[in-house]
Amino acid sequence: MTHAVVVGNLSTTYGAETQVFKVINDKYLSQIKPLITNTCLSCHGEGKLSPWYRNFPFVRGYIDNHISRAKEKLEMSQGVPFKGKGKQSDIFWSITQSLENDRMPPFNFNIMHRDLKLSNVTKLKLINWFKQKRLILLKEDL
Ligand code: HEC
Repeated sequence: MTHAVVVGNLSTTYGAETQVFKVINDKYLSQIKPLITNTCLSCHGEGKLSPWYRNFPFVRGYIDNHISRAKEKLEMSQGVPFKGKGKQSDIFWSITQSLENDRMPPFNFNIMHRDLKLSNVTKLKLINWFKQKRLILLKEDL
């Protein structure tokens, strides 16, 4: 609620787009990014997967390829606006969906990397955050 008011006021002064992104990004960087650095950002950002597989050329090729595909689709390490396809509100929605449906991190990586699994508490927190911020983005048609 506070956000909506702040965003509304600032948007008339500075231009909606920049200001909405800034407000959301500040929270993202301080509260959300730390929660996903070792999970989502291993593939969708600057994080790193633990390097055991580097010793196995076939696995390495597969995984490097997989990670570059992941970054092409969605890059979250530089903050909001995220690099991806469509409007930010669409991207926020697909993030919410991937978490709610346990589609991310991908199943095969959950097996190889138990450390990539999010706790249920963290997952719920992320889902709520992305849903809430998506409403703000939608309101501004971003
Ligand atoms: C091990 C690598 C890996 C991890 C970790 C990972 N992803 Fe992904 N992600 C991918 C790949 C590869 C794709 C593209 C292919 C696909 O959709 O399956 C993708 C696609 C997506 C998409 C769909 C983008 C689009 O436009 O199609 C979303 C949203 C997403 N990931 C969110 C997340 C979130 C949120 C997390 C953390 C909970 C996460 N991912 C963790 C590899 C990963």
